[in-house]
Amino acid sequence: MAARARTNMAGLCSTALFMTLGACATTPPAQVPQAVVPAITPPQPDRWPAVQSRVADDPALALRVRELLGGMSLEEKVGQIIQPDIASITPAEVAQYKFGSILAGGNSAPGGNEKAPAAEWLKLADTYWKASDQARWNGPKIPLMWGIDAVHGHANVVGATIFPQNIGLGATRDPALMRRIGEVTAREMVITGIDWDFSPTLAVVRDDRWGRAYEGFSEDPSVVRSFAGEMVQGLQGRAGTPEFLGAGRVIATAKHFVGDGGTAGGKDQGDTLASPEELRDIHGAGYPPAIEAGVQAVMASFSSVRGEKVHGSSALLTDALKRDMGFSGLVVGDWNAHGQVPGCTNTSCPQSINAGLDMFMAPDSWKELYANTLAQVRSGAIPMARLDDAVGRILAVKLRAGLFSKGAPSARLLAGQVEQLGSAQHRAVAREAVRKSLVLLKNNGNLLPLSPGANILVAGDGADNIGKQSGGWTISWQGSGLTNADFPGATSIWKGIDAAVRSAGGRATLSADGSYKRKPDVAIVVFGEEPYAEFVGDRATLEFSPGDKTHLDLLRKFKAAGIPTVAVFLSGRPMWVNPELNMVDAFVAAFLPGSEGAGVADVLLRDARGQVAHDFQGKLSFSWPKRADGAPLNRGDEGYDPLFPFDYGLRYADRTVVSALAEDRPPPVPGGADGVFFGRGSLPPGWSWATSGQGLTVSSLDRRAQEDARRFRWTGASEAQAFIQTAAPIDLSRETTGELSLLVDYRVDERPSGAVNLAMNTASVPIAGVLRSAPIGQWRTLAVPLRCFARAGLDAKAVAVPAAIGTAGRLSLSISDVRVASAMINQDLCGQK
Ligand code: BGC
Ligand code: BGC
Repeated sequence: MAARARTNMAGLCSTALFMTLGACATTPPAQVPQAVVPAITPPQPDRWPAVQSRVADDPALALRVRELLGGMSLEEKVGQIIQPDIASITPAEVAQYKFGSILAGGNSAPGGNEKAPAAEWLKLADTYWKASDQARWNGPKIPLMWGIDAVHGHANVVGATIFPQNIGLGATRDPALMRRIGEVTAREMVITGIDWDFSPTLAVVRDDRWGRAYEGFSEDPSVVRSFAGEMVQGLQGRAGTPEFLGAGRVIATAKHFVGDGGTAGGKDQGDTLASPEELRDIHGAGYPPAIEAGVQAVMASFSSVRGEKVHGSSALLTDALKRDMGFSGLVVGDWNAHGQVPGCTNTSCPQSINAGLDMFMAPDSWKELYANTLAQVRSGAIPMARLDDAVGRILAVKLRAGLFSKGAPSARLLAGQVEQLGSAQHRAVAREAVRKSLVLLKNNGNLLPLSPGANILVAGDGADNIGKQSGGWTISWQGSGLTNADFPGATSIWKGIDAAVRSAGGRATLSADGSYKRKPDVAIVVFGEEPYAEFVGDRATLEFSPGDKTHLDLLRKFKAAGIPTVAVFLSGRPMWVNPELNMVDAFVAAFLPGSEGAGVADVLLRDARGQVAHDFQGKLSFSWPKRADGAPLNRGDEGYDPLFPFDYGLRYADRTVVSALAEDRPPPVPGGADGVFFGRGSLPPGWSWATSGQGLTVSSLDRRAQEDARRFRWTGASEAQAFIQTAAPIDLSRETTGELSLLVDYRVDERPSGAVNLAMNTASVPIAGVLRSAPIGQWRTLAVPLRCFARAGLDAKAVAVPAAIGTAGRLSLSISDVRVASAMINQDLCGQK
């Protein structure tokens, strides 16, 4: 109440910190008699709740901030509000510019090696920290602060404990467990010398087609609200106690403020059309508890709210967050997201700072952004008071986090104790989380729990695949292309089953393709989505794997053979899996459990004495769809008609029977939405195949379905090209900086007689070598990193021809799929002749 009253009187000057900065010195709220403060009843709909943070106002700290600010040069102040990425800045440059912070994005790692050992991370943290420490400071040194996305454990680092992604944690309905997960995550981060976590994600996910659905705890604000404060306290320690930002703790970030989970169509970085009340009460639900718990950073969302980019919205960043809710920490931007504000570029955006952003995330754009921001402060385009407020907030966070006294990263408690990274104790917390996150959707005839004495066949491409069970934001940004060897100390789902069965004296067999010699008593089939992150995971529908039904064939085979079957489904969201549900007796939604696959066996199997040691406990925190089209479906909707409602989840004692479900698929998606230019035989509306030149013929052929591929024959009569085109060029610049590739599924039917080029627009890469070494008649995938095209001169902002294949020689080539996606690249096509 007091905070609310002060807010009204003094507007922006609500925090003790701000007042010490001079701008508000004339409003001493403590001396204002309560009686003269008008009560605000009823609250205006666009007012956000006043929140009383458990981090007490600290006049001594505010004074220290003012002193520090007084000693800083203008350049040093600007340096504090820019955060470059380690992939694009050297320690020497950090020292030269005296930046306040650095980050390691999902694809950034020591020496560019994503698999660098933990000790190297700590060494690098020290190197940057020391460079900054030895910089020529005008006044007192300002310590550097390093941020990272430890969004399901410190999963960037090989050997760390990887927790279930938030969608699974939401299903545990166990916020106290979340706090322990935060504690472990913080400890593992401190071991590697990193101060600041870009977590938790507080998105309230309203459209599961969104590629970041799994980063959210729930579609429902109540669940997000219950987890938000606990995760903050786990990472930072409890405010008001000595553990707060003490040894073994890190700074937390509530993200992405606000409305990230509400974009129309589930489009990443899109536009949220929610009303002001929905924005506050649904999408904003996690922020009051996070702020109350003392969260020190909030990350602004890439997305827009009713057409306005959050990065340019003073109504949201300043009024709602800082004024109404009284947030006194720092607001960090997202990855070059300021560049999307109208009138801004990645390298110039006074609008964002003026709207209330305190720190630009400027991974590769920092140099010019620094120069421009400095000039904008000098010219008055950014008011000095705003800069001082931003820097003051950053300094206050660093002071609260003890960074002025903690010393170099390696000098801190726990630092370098790499044996604690992924320790048995930490993994036990993750395994408990896995057990609690599993949701039993179907258990006809009570097939589960299984007896470990049975002859169990474990099949499916997810059975022994730790990368797949971990999802995005794992070792790399997309989490793709990993093998079990990249996860020392981790356990696949298969390994967990095998160990449990062995210890009970039984026998389990792994057979990814489901083949067997002796007919098993029961089969467990583990399958699901391939890893993805952010916009790469946006989907046009919720049908699981529309283009490839191998897993379904496997389920059918077992059914036909009369083998009772359990499906364990790995996914970042609920999906339409009616055909799969129909084929099996039991179906477990396991979401993305992370490194402790053994948690699955803990629940699926009876123990060695035949007892149920762990019943299912998970409840859906997302409604499970009855329809495949992916239309938004959330608890409380009018006409709410899910297949399995929010809160659903069977227990072993339940006798619920799931009867046969309708299997009508949605009409095939024309592509485009998933970065698909050609797939299932069709192109997005407005796109077409075309040819130029003489002596090139095109025919249709069947690969997986009728006429789902094209065959091109070049006779060598002249230079000729086959290409995909559109009249409305698309912008692929984000995909280009995001390490994505152009993927072409092809089959060589006759080898090329001369040079062959693959071009995007007119930027081309030679591919004859690849085609010549490909076996005749076999389907393969060619992956060309988009940066290769950029290097060849592509203007990624306007792509009208995403793929063109041309040769003057002879060649016969079939193509079934053309898309932009993440890929493991084994061949350096950029350099190849
Ligand atoms: C994501 C953020 C993340 C940041 C740094 C962005 O693309 O949206 O969630 O914290 O990158 O990796
Ligand atoms: C970075 C991520 C970032 C993404 C955004 C990637 O290269 O590693 O951290 O979120 O780009 O485009």
